[in-house]
Amino acid sequence: MTAVNARAVEPYWVVVPAAGSGKRMGADKPKQYLPLLGKPLIVHTLQNILSWPGLAGIVVAIAADDSEFKALPQAADPRIHTVIGGAERADSVLAALEYLSNRAVPETSVLVHDAARPLVAKGDIEKLIGPESAAIALLAQPASDTVKRATTEHGVAVVTETLPRDQIWLAQTPQKAPLQLLKDSLQSGLRENPTAITDEASALELAGYRPQLMAACRTNFKITQPADLLLAEALLQQQRTQQGEPS
Ligand code: C5P
Repeated sequence: MTAVNARAVEPYWVVVPAAGSGKRMGADKPKQYLPLLGKPLIVHTLQNILSWPGLAGIVVAIAADDSEFKALPQAADPRIHTVIGGAERADSVLAALEYLSNRAVPETSVLVHDAARPLVAKGDIEKLIGPESAAIALLAQPASDTVKRATTEHGVAVVTETLPRDQIWLAQTPQKAPLQLLKDSLQSGLRENPTAITDEASALELAGYRPQLMAACRTNFKITQPADLLLAEALLQQQRTQQGEPS
């Protein structure tokens, strides 16, 4: 039994930004609605989140012209709320945090989790919400490949530097922080340096905080390209087989 099972977890909210168009996938619909083993990707992600211990509720940020979310079985779940997202991921997250500010106290822990990461491991969530984790923390993957800094010369990418790999982590989600602090940091980050805000941690760093990195399982990759869908299907299928579910 893990430490988090042994003691009660403080209730926390999860924010799911799902208002993107998923352009890099090159599909005819936003990637959160692409089929994965016969169900939209976001259904797998929401089913996973609904099984996390201590969950108070989920706020999903959807696009203003979204016509698919309300038809999902999860749309009727009383733990799932929706808001209209914004132009960038950070705007979508902020819209969800505004909504939460009227429903939860400022110190409430919020976990922001991409709709496009259906395979985050339960054990990693238990670590992130458990007693070993700081109030500001994120799942991340220590780099295993050698990392190069590059520039473009005559239209070709060339290496300018090899970075010290033991200092490189690839940020994943969920990323956790107290509600008000996260909202303030995102707002000030977007005002001061909007292009630098590519995740919640980058806003918190800009505001002077040092988020804790928690090593997470490699299966928590973000579905970004068509090949990622195939890999996710194979892993979900293997999970089903292990759980004795029909394929
Ligand atoms: O495009 P990318 O994969 O980086 O998006 C990460 C997550 O942020 C996705 O779940 C996407 O739907 C969401 N997003 C959003 N609002 C935007 C852009 C992206 O909620 N304006």
